[in-house]
This record gives sequence, structure tokens and C-alpha cells, in this order.
Amino acid sequence: MIEISNVSKTYGTGNSAVHALKDVNLTIPKGTIHGVIGLSGAGKSTLIRCVNLLERPSTGSVSVDGQEMTRLSRGELNRARHRIGMIFQHFNLLTTRTVFDNVALPLELMGESRSAIKDRVLPLLELVGLSDKAKQYPAQLSGGQKQRVAIARALASKPNVLLCDEATSALDPQTTSSILELLREINQQLGITILLITHEMEVVKSICHRVSLISDGELVEDAEVGDFFTAPITQLGREFLNDFLQLSPPKELIERLSDTPSEHTHPVVRLTFSGDAVSTPLISRLARECSVDVSILQAKVESIQDRTLGLMIAELLGSPAQTQEAMAYLEAHQLQVEVLGHVQRNV
Ligand SMILES: Nc1ncnc2c1ncn2[C@@H]1O[C@H](COP(=O)(O)OP(=O)(O)OP(=O)(O)O)[C@@H](O)[C@H]1O
Ligand SMILES: [Mg+2]
Repeated sequence: MIEISNVSKTYGTGNSAVHALKDVNLTIPKGTIHGVIGLSGAGKSTLIRCVNLLERPSTGSVSVDGQEMTRLSRGELNRARHRIGMIFQHFNLLTTRTVFDNVALPLELMGESRSAIKDRVLPLLELVGLSDKAKQYPAQLSGGQKQRVAIARALASKPNVLLCDEATSALDPQTTSSILELLREINQQLGITILLITHEMEVVKSICHRVSLISDGELVEDAEVGDFFTAPITQLGREFLNDFLQLSPPKELIERLSDTPSEHTHPVVRLTFSGDAVSTPLISRLARECSVDVSILQAKVESIQDRTLGLMIAELLGSPAQTQEAMAYLEAHQLQVEVLGHVQRNV
């Protein structure tokens, strides 16, 4: 279990001070995969580096498996770090060492014997699917293979926690999937708690149990993945979701949208629905019961873990009173209705 309590981190002082983390609180239960997303510069790397104290929090505390990290002596911290593996975007392998010797490095630093090292490294290479590459050098490997070496190295000291800083951001989509699959296996088979940061919703969707959103140093959302993807609570969360779903009105329509409704306009709405609402024929009922016509501009259905999420952008065609009634009807049936703007009626 990882517990981050009231953690703030400021780089520099005075006018040049950067408040990279502001009073962050986060609990990650043992054996779960937790994602942290956010825009570039939001503080994701700072947060993950505060867990193993590569960065020292300015205030607050971090505990891993009950051990308060900020209070450890240098020697104790080194030992605690054996229980926390880390992988990076650019793999950070030693180019002059073979695959075997890269994975062996943490064990050498721990003073393990050559035979103990061999007994540990060979099964790890097998776990990550690189048994045949033991004698190769990093330059002879693909990006995905390099990350597999880095994962094996991170697991060498039998950690309980694995920290992943944009571990798949340098990889193509197919290789990303295979690395995520490996991380999932590691989580399930070895029970390792994984904290991963990413700017890709796809990564969160594929393997995380929970997700936090960090914005300008503040943790602004923390939710089950299914909840976050079906009902993000912040504007930034909705933007991440809409970018991921690539659902926004056609450019030609955006240009015609106005903020103010009038007698001669009708609303363009984004509808988000999950659960039972996905399989209910609400749109045809809407047309019948509220006497509005619905012109669907875009629609998409996504499966997220055990949840189904539907999204639609539509124009509601009717009198102002009818379209108001229609929106109330949709909200009463658990759809989220966001008015994107109003367009002139075609008369
Ligand atoms: N060592 C440092 N010294 C000074 N400022 C830093 C340092 N490291 C990070 N920062 C600043 O702290 C803020 C958060 O940076 P951080 O690297 O944590 O963001 P990030 O969310 O990981 O971004 P990215 O997605 O681009 O990796 C940024 O404004 C950054 O410039
Ligand atoms: Mg970063």
C-alpha cells in the first residue's frame, strides 16, 4: 500500500519557485494498478518520484507498506528502495552491459553471489520473454524489448511496488499493448502494486483499476476507472475523455454555434450515457414523448472494463419549450446532457 499524505513539492525559491505538487493526498491499496494522468508539466513525474524519494517532498509524508519514507536514514532508504522498482520512458539501460548484466545490476549492488544472481536473472528473463537475448546488448534490441529488460531489472530485487513513468510513451501502439499485458501479468501473478503515470487514456483504460487526474500540481479527480470514463467530474477530466473518444462536433458546426439561445435557434448537445441507458431506445422515446426531432451528428459506444459508455452529439429540433422538456427527460433517465451551443434553425 502506498499512502501519500498532504504532499507538496516546490522547486526553487522566491520568484522562480515552481509549486509542482500542492497538498496531494492519495491512497493506493496493495495489489492494485493505479494510473495518474495529467497534461505535460502537471506534476506527474514529481509525484511518482516522491514515492521512492528520488524527489523529497517539501512537506507531507509518503509511506510504502507502512514504512514512512521521509523519515528513513540513507541506509534504510536504500533498503526500502529494493522494495520499489521503477521503469522509465527511455528505459535507462546501461549500453555497455548485456541484457543479463543489466538485470543483474541491482543484485550486484546488493552484494548477491554470482550463482544467486543467475538463479534470479534467468527466470526473470523468461518472465519477460527474453531468455534468448541474455547475451545481447541494448543497442541490438527493439524499444519494446528494451522496456522488457528494464522491467526485469526493476523486478530483480523482488519489489512490492512498481513505479512506471510514461513506460509506454516511446512505443508504438502494438508494442504498448504487449508491455501493458506484461504489467498486468506481473500485477496478477506477483501481486505487485503498480503506480503508473501516463498522458494516454488508452493506457488507463486497458490496465488501471483506479485513476487520478492531476492538474497544475493538484489532484483534482480520483476515481474507479469505470466511473472516471463514464462521469468525469472536472472540465479537464471531460476534455481528456472527449479527446480519447475523439467526439467533438464537426468544425463547420462549431463555427455556427452561439452561446445564447433564442426563438430561432435549437440546442446542440453532447449526451453521455452508461449502464441501462445504453441499451434503452431513449432517442426514439424522446421523439415520441417530447415531440422533438433528433438529428444525430456523431455517436460512439465504448466498453470500459465492465461498463459500457455511450456518447452522442445531436441537434434537438423543436420549439424552445419542447427542447427544454427533452433535455429534462434525458437527465431524468440518467443521461448527462451538456449544451455545446445553439444553432440557427434552417427555415
Ligand atoms: N528538477 C526540477 N527543477 C525545477 N523545476 C522542476 C524540476 N522538475 C520538474 N520541475 C517543474 O515542475 C513542474 C512539474 O513537472 P513534472 O516533470 O512533474 O511534470 P509532468 O506532469 O511529469 O510533465 P510531462 O508530462 O511533461 O513529463 C513543471 O513545471 C516542471 O517544469
Ligand atoms: Mg513527466
